[in-house]
Amino acid sequence: MHLFRMKELLSPEEAAKRAAIEQKMKEYKAKGCQVPPRKLIKTETQIEGIRKSAEVNTGVLDYVSSRICAGMTTAEIDKMVYEYTVSHGAIPAPLNYEGFPKSVCTSINEEVCHGIPSENVKLCEGDIINVDVSTILGGYYSDASRMFMIGKVSNERRHLVETARECLLRGFAAVRPWGFLGDIGAAVQEHAEANGYSVVREYGGHGVGLRFHEDPFVSHVGRRGKGMLLVPGMVFTIEPMINMGSRKIYVDAADDWTVLTEDGMPSAQWEYTVLVTETGAEIITG
Ligand code: MF3
Ligand code: CO
Repeated sequence: MHLFRMKELLSPEEAAKRAAIEQKMKEYKAKGCQVPPRKLIKTETQIEGIRKSAEVNTGVLDYVSSRICAGMTTAEIDKMVYEYTVSHGAIPAPLNYEGFPKSVCTSINEEVCHGIPSENVKLCEGDIINVDVSTILGGYYSDASRMFMIGKVSNERRHLVETARECLLRGFAAVRPWGFLGDIGAAVQEHAEANGYSVVREYGGHGVGLRFHEDPFVSHVGRRGKGMLLVPGMVFTIEPMINMGSRKIYVDAADDWTVLTEDGMPSAQWEYTVLVTETGAEIITG
């Protein structure tokens, strides 16, 4: 199936707003700032579509939250995600994405991200798991993930999970119009490292909405005031992967997807899709 969107006509009000934003971007560009290309500034119609997709995406995560427990296999999580998503008229974005075989990523303990659900993987008491859900509705994409702690979890693991969440919240708090991508990375990195943890560099957040993965790359390390300018209408994910031990990772050669910590220590990740607004930022799904 080939989905395409008609080129839309903007209302005079929206066109005027956009022109003002583009003017301001020009001024930043003249000062030597890296500004986003036009296509990364979503229109109101596009944002509306992304919001509808995000509503289903958050619904999937809430559904998983209410049912996940020890003894469940990750294949059962995959089935829940698939069934909830399609019954709401949407498509799980991971399914067949670059050959990914399932509808959701499930990454347990030392798995950093991109874990593949399996009938052979059962959740055990003490496990920590990231469930990463991405949805396509009406051609629009949304993306978010949460951690779950299965039964009684060690204090060490709980602290990692909580700190990774705080990293996401601090990253989100750093998002403001006419700020910079580096503000987000700096906020995340500082909090992770202050807690003795490390931040994965090879994977990061990304623009999202019209495609699964768009520009910009959202690094979870960085320096304030550096990197791409943040402009109202940009939609991207923040999804820090925080390791208890070394930041070094590798991809499992057996499936070419699962990313693991090199030292075998646990990793935690939380993800929001966010929208830069004229006054601040908004969580679209999380
Ligand atoms: N959901 C992941 C992200 O946050 C991407 C997963 S790609 C997949 O960007 F193919 F593994 F699903
Ligand atoms: Co993502």
